[in-house]
Amino acid sequence: MRGLVRVFTAGLLTLTVVVSVWAVELPAPQTDGGMGLFEALRKRASAPGGDFPTGQLDPGELSSILWAATGLNRGEKGWTVPMSMGLEPYCKIYVAGESGIFLYDWRDNGLKEISKENIRAKVGAQSFVRVAPHILILVADGEGLAEFEEHDRTAFAYAAAGAMTQDIYLAAAALGAGTRYIHSMNLEEIRKALKLEEGDDPLCLMMLGK
Ligand SMILES: Cc1cc2nc3c(=O)[nH]c(=O)nc-3n(C[C@H](O)[C@H](O)[C@H](O)COP(=O)(O)O)c2cc1C
Repeated sequence: MRGLVRVFTAGLLTLTVVVSVWAVELPAPQTDGGMGLFEALRKRASAPGGDFPTGQLDPGELSSILWAATGLNRGEKGWTVPMSMGLEPYCKIYVAGESGIFLYDWRDNGLKEISKENIRAKVGAQSFVRVAPHILILVADGEGLAEFEEHDRTAFAYAAAGAMTQDIYLAAAALGAGTRYIHSMNLEEIRKALKLEEGDDPLCLMMLGK
């Protein structure tokens, strides 16, 4: 299927992307230059929930943050975050915005459309979560985690989410964007809207804005 999807709206500028099978290619992420690591560490902080920045990130910024969270950084089998036994990432990132819900595809640096629903007002238990223009939803991938002993799966999923969310914090700091880790979620709304398979579990949200 081919079509046109409006993925990002930044101020008056709307980027319209030609899609194939509802997969949207992101611009190449920033992978060098920019703020130094130690300055980003000094600046890492949660943006206040009650006064969260409501401006959209542009597609390149969103691409860079998703890449920081779980992008390929060494050929075909190396990622920005460590995964047990070097397996492919077993924590997925969904992006919820005003145009709908998308799944980040680290293989193709793209977004796959899941639905056109704007679920930002439904996913967080705290009402301020709705104001974030982008909400990243980190989900344990039941299929990927099935490689591990059952008693290790939850720990491995949260270890991945911890590394990914710290990378998101640092990339957001480097780009001058705001982010905040959110554990208080409406799990059933998320499961339904993301059409999650049995065994896929929402782990946390990262609000994003600038
Ligand atoms: C495991 C974890 C769960 C959190 N859950 C929430 C949450 O549900 N709602 C919220 O507003 N902030 C949440 N936060 C953000 C923390 O409140 C925030 O990180 C803390 O106040 C320290 O601020 P800092 O990140 O600026 O150092 C969470 C942070 C972590 C690490």
